Amino acid sequence: MTTDAQILSALRSAGEGAVSGADLSQKLGISRAAIWARIEELRKLGYEIEASPHLGYRLLNDPDLLNADDLLARLGRTTVIGRDIRVFQQTNSTNDIVDKLARDGVKEGAVVFAEAQTKGRGRLGRQWISPAGKGLWFSVLLRPDLRPQEATRITIAGATALWRAIHEVAGLRADVKWPNDILMNGRKVAGILTEMNAELDHVKYVILGVGLDVNQTATDFPAELRRVATSLRVETRRPVSRAELATAILRELDRDYRRVCQGAFAEVADEWEEHCATLGQQVGINIGNRTLRGRAEALDDDGALLLRTEHGHLERVIGGDVTLEK
Ligand code: BTN
Repeated sequence: MTTDAQILSALRSAGEGAVSGADLSQKLGISRAAIWARIEELRKLGYEIEASPHLGYRLLNDPDLLNADDLLARLGRTTVIGRDIRVFQQTNSTNDIVDKLARDGVKEGAVVFAEAQTKGRGRLGRQWISPAGKGLWFSVLLRPDLRPQEATRITIAGATALWRAIHEVAGLRADVKWPNDILMNGRKVAGILTEMNAELDHVKYVILGVGLDVNQTATDFPAELRRVATSLRVETRRPVSRAELATAILRELDRDYRRVCQGAFAEVADEWEEHCATLGQQVGINIGNRTLRGRAEALDDDGALLLRTEHGHLERVIGGDVTLEK
């Protein structure tokens, strides 16, 4: 952890209490003057830190920004996810940045956040609108030991992790729509874009890209999206801490990724099924230029959707655009 991450971590662990400059200096192995200089820099970023000559330093308030040191400090220890966190003020797409990191040989678990994306993309070539400071736009580099056809397990793990983190931080119970959407009252609040680089029988790496609308107000959405999109703020009627949410998601993802890697995908799938708004419904699935219709019955071992078609066959669907039908 960097010095700033260690300072923020110590201040957060003290809660309402204070940490003395002497303690920090001893713990971090740097002078009290150096601690003071870092505190000043953190204040410039917007961290409200009280300094009292007798008690020491106390964290009063966080700014609403994503700061890599702060995210590391909040996250604490995880097995894989988040051991390397990078934040860009603006980039084209975090999935592209992570793709470059993957090609450069960076270890799995690296996470790239952007405050804003200029070319955020969704599934099926759609645009993903990613305004500055309003949501969480990030991508995670994974190198799972999976066959390409099993990669949907990663999307399913991403969706269950998102579900739990949203529940924990915002107190909301979302619906999951296969394969990658998180809905609230029928409106989309988050989506997952899983991209991979694979050989015929082996995944080289997976990029799990997450877009989560957090603090937009209804009017922040372009008119054409207002009926289909929502944010956590619209749903809870209060702003939600993006940093707290981001670290909750990474922690939950660490847990589900471990389950996938240890052969316990069935547990993740069971949990996903509990929250799924698609199963048991009559759906239409657009796959390229054909549409399959039928009843969504279950997930299979790879995370594919099993669809009982109008003709009574059980079809295994690995991707597509699902619409619920009456
Ligand atoms: C979808 O629902 O179609 C998936 C949306 C995924 C958007 C995220 S935002 C971070 C990452 N970077 C991108 O360009 N896309 C994903």
